[in-house]
Amino acid sequence: MEIRNARGLPERLPLIERYRDRLAHPAGAPIVTLMEGSTPLVHAPRLSERLGLETHLKLEGMNPTGSFKDRGMTLAVSHAKASAAEAIICASTGNTAASAAAYAARAGIRGAVIVPEGKIAQGKLAQAVIHGARVIALRGNFDQALEIVRLIVERQAVELVNSINPLRIEGQKTGAFEVCDELGTAPDALAIPVGNAGNITAWWKGFREYGQGRPRLHGFQAEGAAPIVLGAPVERPDTLASAIRIGNPARWAEALEALDESGGLVQAVSDAEILDAQQWLASNEGVFCEPASAACVAGVLKYRPEGSLLVCVLTGHGLKDPDVALRSAPPVITCEPELAEVERAILG
Ligand code: F0G
Repeated sequence: MEIRNARGLPERLPLIERYRDRLAHPAGAPIVTLMEGSTPLVHAPRLSERLGLETHLKLEGMNPTGSFKDRGMTLAVSHAKASAAEAIICASTGNTAASAAAYAARAGIRGAVIVPEGKIAQGKLAQAVIHGARVIALRGNFDQALEIVRLIVERQAVELVNSINPLRIEGQKTGAFEVCDELGTAPDALAIPVGNAGNITAWWKGFREYGQGRPRLHGFQAEGAAPIVLGAPVERPDTLASAIRIGNPARWAEALEALDESGGLVQAVSDAEILDAQQWLASNEGVFCEPASAACVAGVLKYRPEGSLLVCVLTGHGLKDPDVALRSAPPVITCEPELAEVERAILG
């Protein structure tokens, strides 16, 4: 569908409008949008060369709040608005909190987010706070936060916007639609980081529904937080990729089903491999993603998926987590304001 603006020019559409016939959103219901989706799919020539297959990067960090969460949040918060919910709530490792806070502000609804204390990236915390959400730092981990949130929504009239809410999956499946639209087909392989396992579930739903082919799914977890790889919950998950520091994924069963159907698998990468991949991608492809997203690049470099067309889902922007990037990046050179010294520093 093409909509034209007051000047007769094609208008960019909210995600819900673009894929209205494929999304569970009632006609006439309000739409809460920040113009999410339509993210760039960028060919990665150097990564393609290293892997020996055509590789594209889906830059989900280019969504309004810097992560893929906005695709699901537009649906979940639109529904909250339609049902006159007073507040939305989520547990989060950071990105869901940032997205929920922004969409709540947009909708004029109160937002409350529960995050593990000291374990979320600075950029995400800044977003949640500046958008006016009530931010609760839990002296515990994400899994415990999610357990508490599940109990709260049973007791209070607030809308849950974690990916256990089916509308989140519904919105996030559109990532697969966009990739198929742009490539004219599904890729042979899809690499995607896995935390709570909502996104891998959503992308698989998208490919199935779109009917343009199905990729083999390659999910990647961080070694210290790899319950699906291990086949058992991890009580104290630990990784510097804080977005996927999750020990007991809520969508575990659905992810297994998707993996099974696609003939895919979930594998683990170390924090060192994640940092290497993050820096390599930034300095060789000009794409800066956050550590959790780099896990899928680390994964394809380590395990080498088969096929001739690969898409890596880079779930969040690198600016979300400057601290981790600065820890591993090359040093900054300090100089006196003297021409010769600055020249030496540049050319030396
Ligand atoms: N990548 C990023 C940047 C994320 O923020 C997340 C999850 C994932 C990957 C994994 O996606 O959970 O659907 O398997 N972040 C959630 C949050 C948990 O609270 O922001 P998943």
